[in-house]
Amino acid sequence: MINDILNKEQLSREDLITLLKLEKEEELQALYEKAYAVKEEYIGRVSHYRGLIEFSNYCIKDCKYCGIRKSNPLVDRFSMNKEEILKMAQWAYDNKYGSITLQSGERTDEKFVDFVTDVISSIRELSNGELGMTLCMGEQSEEVYKKWFDAGGHRYLLRIETTNKELYEKIHPQNDLHSFDKRVECLKSLRKIGYQVGTGVMMGIPGQTIEDLADDILFFRDMDIDMIGMGPYIVHKDTPIGEEALKLGYDTKEDKKRRFLLGLKMIAVSRLFLKDVNIAATTALQALDPLGREKGLKAGGNILMPIITLEDYREKYQLYNNKPCIEDNANQCKACLTNRVRSIGEQVGFGEFGDSKHFFNKGK
Ligand code: 5AD
Repeated sequence: MINDILNKEQLSREDLITLLKLEKEEELQALYEKAYAVKEEYIGRVSHYRGLIEFSNYCIKDCKYCGIRKSNPLVDRFSMNKEEILKMAQWAYDNKYGSITLQSGERTDEKFVDFVTDVISSIRELSNGELGMTLCMGEQSEEVYKKWFDAGGHRYLLRIETTNKELYEKIHPQNDLHSFDKRVECLKSLRKIGYQVGTGVMMGIPGQTIEDLADDILFFRDMDIDMIGMGPYIVHKDTPIGEEALKLGYDTKEDKKRRFLLGLKMIAVSRLFLKDVNIAATTALQALDPLGREKGLKAGGNILMPIITLEDYREKYQLYNNKPCIEDNANQCKACLTNRVRSIGEQVGFGEFGDSKHFFNKGK
């Protein structure tokens, strides 16, 4: 029965739901294997790195699940200076990472925008344009997106978090700064400008259903998304949603397993359905399972985001509790992840951009 669905040319919404509801070990294995075969066919047995630079945790947003939300007074706020960021970018370039991701809390003031523009163009210069740059700095105006694109950013990751609007409104404050429609508009602006566009969701948010997750995948298709970065929701205890989740038993082993499985299933079903997009096996998977990221690759993911943030700052950039790799440095992360990739019989695409095939397959 499950094989009939797995071998279908085109999956329906009902099929997506059935697959996302699978629980039996054998059926799950069949799903992951099929998704991996699709990855092999469209991408190959290779994973690409995006060295992750988390350069500031100042944030104007107040997302109710996120540890660095504006109104969390327990966060020690930092911003790296240009030299520190360039040092990490240089390290990524020297280590043939192919690409980096610049991520920070959200800010829209001119000083920030200009700083980021300068950093992007300096990185382009130091790497002779050979280091791919994914930006992840939240919602900005179209002009700002354009400015950063012209400076050298060519991919942008902006998660929709959930496509269930009611749930979106529940997990964000109700004001103009946190509007679902605005976020969708931003994704459209990014596409218009010419970015490879990435989005994603969290899986296992309190109140989220399997049907919601199926609709998230349909949204990825409808928005013609090139890259997907998604991961299980993880409790941060000093946040409103974190408090609610703890009351619901999210700290139990069973629940962690449930969310981890949701994470893997979403990767696999997205791979089956969307085929040639880039899909990250995110660090959040590893927060719930020590082999989380390898399993994410085996379920169809093809992108890893090794943290290269300088050690001193890692602990301060915690969107959720139990974030892995906080104690490590960039060299340790490289060795550890590269071994993980090789342990499943894959290669790391060192020195390659690892662009989204979907982006270039369009219109073919
Ligand atoms: N658990 C999992 N992911 C989280 N993010 C923020 N807070 C959490 C959390 N508690 C994710 C959001 C955001 C990305 C940068 O981090 O999806 O888009």
